[in-house]
Amino acid sequence: MTKPLIAANWKMNMTTGESVTFAKRLAEEFARLEDRDVIIAPPFTALYPVAEILRNSGIHLAAQNFHWEKGGAYTGEISAPMLCDIGCRYVLVGHSERRILFGERNEEVNKKAATALAAGLKPIVCIGETLGERESGRTFDILARQIKEGLNNISPDDIESVTLAYEPVWAIGTGKTATTEQAEEVHRFIREEIGGIFGKAKAGETAIIYGGSVKPDNIAGLMDQPDINGALVGGASLDFESFAKIIKY
Ligand code: 13P
Repeated sequence: MTKPLIAANWKMNMTTGESVTFAKRLAEEFARLEDRDVIIAPPFTALYPVAEILRNSGIHLAAQNFHWEKGGAYTGEISAPMLCDIGCRYVLVGHSERRILFGERNEEVNKKAATALAAGLKPIVCIGETLGERESGRTFDILARQIKEGLNNISPDDIESVTLAYEPVWAIGTGKTATTEQAEEVHRFIREEIGGIFGKAKAGETAIIYGGSVKPDNIAGLMDQPDINGALVGGASLDFESFAKIIKY
């Protein structure tokens, strides 16, 4: 089984100064954690200084987004080689905010996942249903499609470098966490789908993490579930004490 993975997604928050202060505390308190992986995804403006602080700390750096082209006339975009160059190891792909607010479809998610892997970045591919989709009984169809299309043509050798993040849209920033049973039911389904595409052994090695109102008081229950391998934390990762409690669950 994979090591527990706790990731912070700071979204469009934190100045460079705030990010640096946070990263220094994190590196001091959690240097070389053996039994879990910790990842932080600051905004683009803070990536470089934070990378310098986290170097050799054992804490990993992720970007929140990137463009699938290597370079060229794409004003405002950042490429995978640029992220690798400054020390990013991971990148979020297909976060529901990118899908809903910026129109990313499974097709773009797939291009980004493939490009990230080719560049040596580990994609954290986010999937999840909206409230309407859940209430109309379409949760599993939506997720199956996001997995099939988002991971189209990814090789079985590469799937070990992919993390799936299940983030039910109705639980993001709402204070409504999926119950541990609801989350586990979906995580088990995701693992079965991965098994159907890449084989059972690969599915057992794939990290599937949960996101959506994860807090210090619900992390332990989530992490107790057999198919939940970690958490992708938004709001509660902006406060050092609360993120530290989640890491130490
Ligand atoms: P919250 O933890 O604020 O609900 O956000 C979850 C999320 O979107 C992480 O990517």
